[in-house]
Formats: sequence, C-alpha cells, structure tokens
Amino acid sequence: MTTLTVWRDDAPKSPEIVTSDGAEIARLLAKHNVTFERWKAEQVLAPGADQDAVLKAYTKEVDRLKKQGGYKTADVVRLAKGTPNTEPMRAKFLSEHTHSEDEVRFFVEGSGAFYLRLGGKVHQVVCEKDDLISVPAGTKHWFDMGPNPYFCAIRLFTDPAGWVAEFTGDPIADKFPKFELAAA
Ligand SMILES: [Fe+2]
Repeated sequence: MTTLTVWRDDAPKSPEIVTSDGAEIARLLAKHNVTFERWKAEQVLAPGADQDAVLKAYTKEVDRLKKQGGYKTADVVRLAKGTPNTEPMRAKFLSEHTHSEDEVRFFVEGSGAFYLRLGGKVHQVVCEKDDLISVPAGTKHWFDMGPNPYFCAIRLFTDPAGWVAEFTGDPIADKFPKFELAAA
C-alpha cells in the first residue's frame, strides 16, 4: 500500500507519522515542494511490453506531465518479477544523493520506496502503481527497489544527460529501515 513514513533524521527507530491517506501524503509532501498525485494507471501492459509500448499506452498522461513540468523526454524503467542479479541495481541509488534536475516517476506497475530528506526529517514514500512523485532538483534522497524488485515507472526529464547522481557521502541511508516488500 502507498505509505508515507516520517522520522526525525536522527531518530530512525521512532516514526513520527505513518499514513496511507493519499491526500494527506500529498499535503505533507507539498509543504516541501514535492509533488505527489494518485492517478489511475489503467492500461494493462503485456508481460513483454517494451519502452515504446509503455509510453504509447500512457501518451496522454506523459504529454500532460511534459506540459505541466516543462519536461522534454520520457523513458521507462521496468523490472519484471523474478529478474535475476538485481542487487547491483538496488545498490546504485541506495545512498543519499541529489540531481541537478527533478526526479519524476509515474508508477504503472509494482512498487519502490523513495526516501526524501526534507526539513530535518526523512520521508519514506512507498510508491505503487498509480502514484506520481516529483522530487525537486537538489533534494537529498535515496531510492530502494527492495530485495525482489518489481516495478515499471515512466521517468520524465528536462535533460536526460543532466540526470546524474551526486552522492553526498552521508551514510544516513544505512540507519533507516530498508524497503523489504517482496514482489507480490
Ligand atoms: Fe535519485
């Protein structure tokens, strides 16, 4: 279930807020200029649907986002259930980092967890199918796809070449609970 958990960034054992109310999640994140919306990912994707098929299925949504956020390009990350050797992929974004442009993800299948460091707190946003999140450029964050990753997310960019992770070197991510949800 889509869930927001908020801890003080020095208190990873005692969450201050846990909510699965979409409107409340949107409200709490909007205070920090993070956009969160629940959409209807209604298109059924074939098991082997490639990037073009996914983008075609969601043309309307992608076009709206491009218009709203000034994004120029979109692509698709899709990890099927049971994909082998995902540990290096998981590790890649599991340390705190920033980007020089927004990180925009629309989940059309599966789930994954963003951890956003905002106002002295860590906000874990478990995103699932139907969830759109837009993390502003420069926001310290990390992403955990879990031990058995399963998700398909449309990514939007103003400049894909600029979408590089700048690692902060802060080991904070190691102190907070990992995203352990198994692919269901
Ligand atoms: Fe990132």
